[in-house]
Amino acid sequence: MPKEDPKIVELQKMREISYLGGGEDRIAKQKEKGKLTARERIGALLDKGSFQELNGMMLNRHTDFGLDKGKISGDGMIAGFGKINGRKVCVYAQDFTVMGGSFGEVAGQKVARLMDLAMDAGVPVIAINDGGGARIQEGVFSLFAFGEVFYRNVLASGVIPQICIIMGPCAGGAVYSPALTDFVVMTQGISNMFITGPEVIKAVTHEVVDAETLGGATTHSSISGVAHLVGQTEAETFAIVKKILEYIPDNNASTPTPIATNDSPFRADKALDSLVPSNPNQTYNILDAINRVVDKDSFFEIHARYATNAVVGFARLNGESIGIAANQPASMAGVLDINASDKIARFVRFCDAFNIPLVTFVDTPGFMPGSVTEHNGIIRHGAKIIFAFSEASVPKISVVTRKAYGGAYIVMGSKHLHADLAFAWPTAEIAVMGAEGAVNILYGRDLKQKPPEEAQKMRGELVEEYKTKFSNPYRAAAAGYVDEVILPSETRQRLISALEVLRNKQSLAPAKKHGNIPL
Ligand code: HXC
Repeated sequence: MPKEDPKIVELQKMREISYLGGGEDRIAKQKEKGKLTARERIGALLDKGSFQELNGMMLNRHTDFGLDKGKISGDGMIAGFGKINGRKVCVYAQDFTVMGGSFGEVAGQKVARLMDLAMDAGVPVIAINDGGGARIQEGVFSLFAFGEVFYRNVLASGVIPQICIIMGPCAGGAVYSPALTDFVVMTQGISNMFITGPEVIKAVTHEVVDAETLGGATTHSSISGVAHLVGQTEAETFAIVKKILEYIPDNNASTPTPIATNDSPFRADKALDSLVPSNPNQTYNILDAINRVVDKDSFFEIHARYATNAVVGFARLNGESIGIAANQPASMAGVLDINASDKIARFVRFCDAFNIPLVTFVDTPGFMPGSVTEHNGIIRHGAKIIFAFSEASVPKISVVTRKAYGGAYIVMGSKHLHADLAFAWPTAEIAVMGAEGAVNILYGRDLKQKPPEEAQKMRGELVEEYKTKFSNPYRAAAAGYVDEVILPSETRQRLISALEVLRNKQSLAPAKKHGNIPL
């Protein structure tokens, strides 16, 4: 057998050492915490054997605080590209076994280069975070490193999809790169995100809080809204990321790939015709409507635990990817509050940026009233939905299923914000407000002057009159604000045909640098 070239042997040896990261002891510690190593994670996410590492030999150049000793090839950041179900992606992962995955100058340079590559190639970028934030020993160089990545996150926003997986600590400045990406996916039990940890909080404000309550997956997916999705395990988290990719294109110049479906475009689900209860005070679940309309099992909810009074997610209609934004009458009657406004606006903007048509299901009594919401800026937040829908140039189709009152009617993808097509079910109530509220305002003084029994009778009659006149879709249809009142069971065919006709929609917006969304 010919003797192997020592230069080949040397490179192989270097690679072997590099693959061990912080060494076997630290890998064992990582396993004790129930976590895969950074390399194993990349292996689990990407198609087998597809990972192409880049800059694996970069070394830390610093000397303070012992950094001159025990340098590790790659410096705790593994970066490269590969494929997910055949789709090209760039990916990087923090290696917790190397100085706690802390982010220094080299990590910053590697990620910045990779993001430049992803932008040039027009492919999504996926980050796997598991680290202690800015590498403290490197001082301002680690801050520079984060800054360069933040800048590129912003530059890449709306050009290539960015997905961030949190699989360990994500503290300090490290949280802002995920926050700038399109989707944050956390793994239950092993991930935390916070700008300052429990110890600092205790020292500064005397508040005692544990890391999980402060910034665990449950907190961020249901209270803060920072995380869009949660996997119960690392494997489930990777499956979620792969699923997101199925619905979205590689970049803003391409469109999502359709997936062949056996679900007939003409399928008419009769159950939809009786889904909305005749009693306006009774509720129903908008997910029932969505799931019965879209391709079987195609609805993929995003932000499911956050602002449950709104529903957003991807789905398919006749195999084509769409984005759905809906009110959820089964949660807080589908009222639009601050969090629901942010959730809807952000999702609409993602879909618009990446050429994903939008379908809106409307059933909302309006914006949340009260001093708390006013003081927290419902005006500013609600305006984001108007901005997002108006700005969106992708095909936009709305379906009013029941209540579409007042400003909430306008903002939820109405014709007035240039929805291409607006449909309404016969159960739709398109009016300035609900009948009871309208009667109180219009006849409140008269009613107060009547004896209680007479007032009650008169109120009942007035409410009925208002309902007959306004609590239906026909006034809006007569005015052309609704393009067609449709049978609920027809919704699927109608939407599919509408999307077909709108496939090559051209929409020209006035030239400008950018708008000023009310943040
Ligand atoms: C350098 C770090 C580090 C960091 C952890 N390590 N964080 N080294 N810089 N930021 C090292 C530890 O010293 C330790 O080294 C090894 O990583 C593992 O850390 P442990 O603490 O032993 O692990 P664990 O108990 O699991 O705790 C992990 C942790 C904790 C929760 C991440 O290490 C921690 O709280 N780190 C600091 C987090 C933080 O405050 N970061 C903010 C930095 S400032 P040895 O050799 O002992 O094993 C920042 C501002 C940037 O990010 C602003 C930009 C805009």
